[in-house]
Order: sequence, then C-alpha cells, then structure tokens
Amino acid sequence: MTPGPRELAAALEGEGYFADEGLCTAVHLALRLGRPLLLEGEPGVGKTEVASVLSRITGLELIRLQCFEGLDSGQALYEWDHPKQLLHVRVAESRGEDPGDLYREEFLLRRPLLRAVRAEQGAVLLIDEIDRADNEFEAFLLEFLGDHQITIPELGTVRAGTPPIVVLTSNRTRELHDALKRRCLYHWIAFPEPGRERAILRATVPGLEERAADGLVRAVQRVRRLPLLKRPGIAESVEWARGAMALAEGGEPWPLALRKALGLLIKDEEDTRLLLGHAEDVFSDA
Ligand SMILES: Nc1ncnc2c1ncn2[C@@H]1O[C@H](COP(=O)(O)OP(=O)(O)OP(=O)(O)O)[C@@H](O)[C@H]1O
Ligand SMILES: [Mg+2]
Repeated sequence: MTPGPRELAAALEGEGYFADEGLCTAVHLALRLGRPLLLEGEPGVGKTEVASVLSRITGLELIRLQCFEGLDSGQALYEWDHPKQLLHVRVAESRGEDPGDLYREEFLLRRPLLRAVRAEQGAVLLIDEIDRADNEFEAFLLEFLGDHQITIPELGTVRAGTPPIVVLTSNRTRELHDALKRRCLYHWIAFPEPGRERAILRATVPGLEERAADGLVRAVQRVRRLPLLKRPGIAESVEWARGAMALAEGGEPWPLALRKALGLLIKDEEDTRLLLGHAEDVFSDA
C-alpha cells in the first residue's frame, strides 16, 4: 500500500525533511501511479534531498545520476567492458577454447540507469540537475522513464522487475522537453512559508532558541522579497543560523551575530550590498 500524503508527511519529518501538503501529494501520486517525479525550484529548496529521504524511508538503495554537459548514454546506462572481453578472449585462446558470445550481461558495466532497472528489490533513482545535461540526453531517457526499460542493441530489452522510484530535479537553467515532462509528475518546490522554515531550523540547528528562530525566519523571508540575483534557499538559511549560533556561542550578541554571518546566506557581492542597503528593515526584529 502506498502511504497517503499525511502519512508521508510524518515519515519525511521523521527523517528531518519538512514537506508541505503539495509536495506530499506529489510524492504520493508518483509512488501510487509509478510515475517519475520531476521537481523544479530555486537552488537550495530541498529538491535533491527528496530522493535521499525517500531512500531512507523506504529502505531502498539510492542510485544517483549527476547530470552535466556532455553526459552520454555510456555514462548513464551501460558500457561494454572491453578490457574484460579482451581478457576473456585471451584466456579462452590460451586454453584453446571458443570464447563464445562476448556481448552478454557479464561483460556489461552497469551505469546508474541499468543498475536501477536491475535492482531486484527496487531502488530510488535520482537523476539530479537534468537541465545541465544536453538536449539529446533527454531523448535517451524517454524509454526508461516511460516503460522502465532499456534497450541494449546486442542484448535486447532489459525491463525492470521492480520499477525504481525515480526523482528528477531541475534548476530550470533551460526548458525541458515536453516529451520528458509528459512522462513525469511535475512539482514546483517553492520557498517555504514561515512556519515550515521555523520547523526546519528548529529541527536542524541544535540549540537555536524559539525567539531567535522566529527572528531569523522573519529576516530570511524579507531578504527573499528583495530583488536579489540569487535568493537564498533553505540550505542557506540553515547554514546562516548555524554560523550565527557559532558566533553567538563565542560571545557575539544577537542579532549582530546574524549580520556577521551573512556570507553564509548571500553569496554575491551585489546582493550583499543591496541587502545591507535594506539592513534596517531586514533586521528590524531579528
Ligand atoms: N524541506 C526541508 N526540510 C528540511 N531540510 C531541508 C528542506 N529543504 C532543504 N533542506 C536542507 O537544505 C539542504 C539543501 O537541500 P537540497 O540540496 O535538496 O536543495 P536543492 O533544491 O537540491 O538545491 P540545488 O538546486 O542547489 O541542488 C538539505 O541538505 C537540507 O539540509
Ligand atoms: Mg540539488
């Protein structure tokens, strides 16, 4: 039985991941319908983490394919292990035996997609940052995403016994093909609302008091409303809280500690200047 959205929310939270109703419903439907889940959103909002947390709550192996420009099918699907084939031929020759078929499964190097198809118990397959791969690479994925199978010309079609749970992420540096989107369930992960961000901070930053967490969340939410080049995600606000806590433990008064740890929240000189121009408003009740 696929857990419902509420059960999922509790299970994710048990692993330290705080998801809103929309994300829990999307995960539920992806599991229920056996569809790949395509997650888009700004950097640091918890897209990649969804896959690791799903692997932890299901107990299934996490198989990760990190996408980059120039990624090809040999790195993502499979490759023939030529040195192994050659060795096999040499050994056979030295024994005067027939080497037999060199294109069988034992001579395949399994890359992430083939490993996911071949995982007997099932697996969680993370295809991370698909927008970084070339357009053509998406075409390779279609058969796998649609039918959980891979065609290897020399061997035929390899179909998953237990279909993997597939999570794709994109930072939207380019539009993805409609053909890819059609095979997936789509969800946009937005910046968290204040209540959820507070819960994340309280759970992930030990020792952060309630009042400090409240102030910090108010400040981050204001920062995100500024016209920054890059708005900070959850990852950044967690790091910021950790940094400010470290300074506070060293005797720095709060909220000055927050200002001094800004390099963990904002990673751009122009953005830093813009923020400091609004510092009075941003830190007014931090
Ligand atoms: N909903 C959440 N609950 C708890 N922690 C979260 C949540 N979202 C993000 N985080 C924290 O932020 C970190 C970064 O998240 P993650 O790497 O998944 O972001 P991302 O969206 O994949 O970012 P990028 O686009 O830069 O790859 C996580 O390791 C986790 O600590
Ligand atoms: Mg990521």
